[in-house]
Amino acid sequence: MSGSGKQAERVAQYSPAEIEILKQAGQIVAGTLQLLYTHLQPGITTAELDNIAEEYLRAQGAVPSCKGYKGYPATICTEIEDVVVHGIPDHAKLQEGQIVGIDLVGSYQGYHGDSTITVAIGEVDEERQRLMQVTEDALRAGIRQARAGNRLRQVCQAIQEHVEKAGFSVVRDLVGHGIGRQMHEPPQIPNFVVEGQFTDYELILQPGMVLAIEPMVNAGTAQVRMGQDDWTMRTADGRPSAHFEHTIAVSDGGPLILTKRGDA
Ligand code: MF3
Ligand code: CO
Repeated sequence: MSGSGKQAERVAQYSPAEIEILKQAGQIVAGTLQLLYTHLQPGITTAELDNIAEEYLRAQGAVPSCKGYKGYPATICTEIEDVVVHGIPDHAKLQEGQIVGIDLVGSYQGYHGDSTITVAIGEVDEERQRLMQVTEDALRAGIRQARAGNRLRQVCQAIQEHVEKAGFSVVRDLVGHGIGRQMHEPPQIPNFVVEGQFTDYELILQPGMVLAIEPMVNAGTAQVRMGQDDWTMRTADGRPSAHFEHTIAVSDGGPLILTKRGDA
């Protein structure tokens, strides 16, 4: 259809040489998250984590993409407990029993990589563990559908089905996105399908498309609310939220996870 043809034109397809640089960017982001993982212990502050991330990124020749973006003041976004996205690092100490997401975007030679992990601080209860596991598995299920020839809706649907089968809810107000020369590029990648809400559902995935797939999953209501700082988004009911994200490239040989970590 002409509609989907038009979509395919406006979504960038990166060359194999560019994918190679995007992979380097992704690997620096992945390495930074792995380093942060070792520091995610009770007592550390998110401001300390932010410093570690910025220093490491810059030492690799990369630049924090979020810092200065629309005035955002930090390298990482921190998602403690009911924070869904865009929490600003501060001097509060992490506590045993919390789940904490770290969302990091870095650019290397002008190409961006974007990835998020959610981690348990010490021991967490069974619901939080399951919430993290379901969210990470939902990301995997979405990535599995990111194959050349598939429609984007297959990615969105796979994520939603996995989450809702588990009795959790996908956030409706935030979506994944294309990525590459810009941190946010078309297409929009919702973690749900509502017919007619996004024309990008019909996009046919092509080799060279680079996607940041990022389910945000709430234990309770899907509803979120914006904080007074105009950045921090929390669940409306105060129950916990988890978030996992990878930057992937669609290729002839299946999805390539550019932000793949050693442990995953
Ligand atoms: N990974 C976040 C996103 O895709 C990056 C936010 S950077 C910020 O929305 F500056 F907006 F916080
Ligand atoms: Co993102």
